[in-house]
Amino acid sequence: MESASTMPSVRHAYADGSFKRMLIDGQWVEARSGKQFESRNPATGELLATVAEGDKDDIDRAVTAARKAFEGPWSRSTPYDRQQILLKLADLVDQHFDELSTLDTLDMGAPVKRTSAMRLRVLGMLRYYAGQATSIHGETIPNSLPGEYFSYTLKEPVGVVGAIIPWNAPLAATVWKIGPVLASGCTVVLKPAEEAPLTSLRLGELALEAGVPPGVVNVVPGYGETAGAALAAHPGVDKVAFTGSHLTGQSIVRASAGNLKRVSLELGGKSPDIVFSDADIDAAVPGAAMAVFANSGQICSAGTRLFVEQRIYDEFVDRVARFGADLRVGNGLDPETVIGPLVSAQQLERVTGYFGLGREEGAKAVTGGERLTGGSLAEGYFVPPTVFANVRDDMRIAQEEIFGPVISAIPFKDVDDLLQRANATMFGLGSGVWTRDVSKAHRLARAIRAGSVWVNCYQAMDPAVPFGGYKMSGYGRESGLQHLEEYLNVKAVWIKTA
Ligand code: NAI
Ligand code: MG
Repeated sequence: MESASTMPSVRHAYADGSFKRMLIDGQWVEARSGKQFESRNPATGELLATVAEGDKDDIDRAVTAARKAFEGPWSRSTPYDRQQILLKLADLVDQHFDELSTLDTLDMGAPVKRTSAMRLRVLGMLRYYAGQATSIHGETIPNSLPGEYFSYTLKEPVGVVGAIIPWNAPLAATVWKIGPVLASGCTVVLKPAEEAPLTSLRLGELALEAGVPPGVVNVVPGYGETAGAALAAHPGVDKVAFTGSHLTGQSIVRASAGNLKRVSLELGGKSPDIVFSDADIDAAVPGAAMAVFANSGQICSAGTRLFVEQRIYDEFVDRVARFGADLRVGNGLDPETVIGPLVSAQQLERVTGYFGLGREEGAKAVTGGERLTGGSLAEGYFVPPTVFANVRDDMRIAQEEIFGPVISAIPFKDVDDLLQRANATMFGLGSGVWTRDVSKAHRLARAIRAGSVWVNCYQAMDPAVPFGGYKMSGYGRESGLQHLEEYLNVKAVWIKTA
């Protein structure tokens, strides 16, 4: 369903077309090169801001500032100090939440229905890490050496973190990277995605207001091939925390080799979502649909390989297609919109490319499959929820991450037939299982090689529950106790007491 209304052009104090500087060492500065790039609204093409375009020199300045901050008074901050800063930041984000979530909508297109529903996720994360700040501790460990030795461990911050994030949820992604940095006592140079840098910059302002000392949080917008690559290769960076495509993940691992910096990677997926005939079908239809259509499919763990048991395949696929066709597509500022635009012309080209490819491969688009250009939709990068039927496991639309609202629906016979096929992907991020049979659910939960298994739900997330990948979906975990460990070194201390 296309929304007919034309949205008025919105006034937003932080997206008023003006110039935005980058944050280095507590100062708002221009790029050394003087270069700037534009940030535009993908629903309308409207100019939101021009932004300082960071490059190697600026990354170098920011890493130097982050190093100085890491070794300065920040290194003597107490866990309680850092907890108070995180709580203050959470309060400020709470106070400014509507402004921040609307900024996400303007900059990358996701509907306000979605961005405004992220409040609990975002505040929950900041307050979870605030709690973590005072919970970091080593252990005393008995040893078996002859003589008397006392051994214990210290947990220390790894140092300067380079955080590189994508555009698909800028507010949540920024908070996910900054939270553990502040809790652990690290410092960070964050490079937002060139497609949507504004929310991260605004969060930089709030971080300063919350009392984050100069140089502890630096935000350097710029392109991946320049600023991003410089950050990944910089010898002054101790750890890179990356979220994005597996191809960029691979180049980050290569770039990290120079100083063997620590790397964590949250990459893409082609997650299986599996529907058995014994499932609660009325719940599984919207569940399976929104597992892909949410955020226009621009979610790393989207359940894009929809496996449906043969005897309900036709009916189920038809219901998912009808559900998708009824979702309201339009400008994300419209409170009724469920499906906003894709983020960029590049993503539009990529997704429509897969529309063509799916047909060439012999799949059938039962709904969607063409760009939307009716009325005001022509101004943005809109595509409809799309369901491909007659998909075979070896088709490219069944193997490659499309990052658009595209379901590839594949029939299966029974559990044994399914198991091997569900895992036949280079990725392993998310997965879904819809069944009323508890044994089947547990059996699949063990057998699926992915970082998350959602049973009778999809995309449930919580700051206390680890999230991350198997195989080419990356390594390291975000959220949960394990997340903080990624930002800590363990030091063993030995004392001869005899
Ligand atoms: P990308 O992986 O190229 O970009 C993500 C971030 O990495 C951005 O900040 C970008 O500037 C930076 N980057 C790019 N090249 C870099 C390099 N050589 N060194 C260091 N940093 C670099 O993803 P992009 O181009 O935005 O989207 C392409 C495809 O990647 C999407 O269609 C989707 O399939 C996948 N993707 C997956 C995401 C996920 O959450 N798993 C997020 C974004 C994209
Ligand atoms: Mg890219």
